[in-house]
Amino acid sequence: MDKYYHRIDDKELYSRTTFTFDLWEIIKTLVSELKPGKRLIRAIDVGGGKGDIIIKGLKYGYEPFLTDINKDFLEEAERRYPELRGHTAILNIFDSKEVIEFMDKNGFFDIVLCLGLVLNHTDLPKKVAVGFSNLIKLANENSIIVVDFMLSELYVGNPKSIWADFTMTPISINGISRLIKRHGLLLKAFHSIEYDYGEYKNYRYKDHAVRLFLVKPY
Ligand SMILES: C[S@@+](CC[C@H](N)C(=O)[O-])C[C@H]1O[C@@H](n2cnc3c(N)ncnc32)[C@H](O)[C@@H]1O
Repeated sequence: MDKYYHRIDDKELYSRTTFTFDLWEIIKTLVSELKPGKRLIRAIDVGGGKGDIIIKGLKYGYEPFLTDINKDFLEEAERRYPELRGHTAILNIFDSKEVIEFMDKNGFFDIVLCLGLVLNHTDLPKKVAVGFSNLIKLANENSIIVVDFMLSELYVGNPKSIWADFTMTPISINGISRLIKRHGLLLKAFHSIEYDYGEYKNYRYKDHAVRLFLVKPY
């Protein structure tokens, strides 16, 4: 996987997708509902690549934090966005011990993003569930979690996909609803997304996903 992520350009990292909704405007609405008057709103992007998404939270007055498994991406993010300096960390979201250590040092967050199918970057549905639990740990009470999932229903007969040089594991709608229930979360909004990675050797690479806007209540 590292090999793949080291040679791709920004267009491929973030895909060419045009979103039919505005991520930060939806978050803004939820923040005003859930955190009225709170002065410091901390936002974290897990698997946030080079920081191009989380940095947009600054415009809304949120304090950004960027994590990724790829150290080079974090270094590039700090070069691009000096505001992120001192607010980045390497974090493997599937490693529960690493997540606890990270939280001991960096605390909880009011907005937790995990976009671009990061939680599907593994080889077993069980591990997707572990990654999701770790993500929820990062969230304060009454906070917002935005997460993308690749759905197995959209890949009928092809439960796992080899994307470049690593395995992606989709998850079923039932699996997602079990995860939401297990963690006592509320689903506030969702959108379907078609990621478009452009054409390569006469084949148009696309991924289908859902983006869920969840709330971890008190
Ligand atoms: C397809 S990119 C998505 C980037 C960005 N979140 C977005 O939505 O455009 C997947 C990102 O997940 C990161 N990643 C892969 N496995 C990870 C893991 N176990 N923990 C944290 N980040 C991971 C990759 O380094 C890469 O930056």
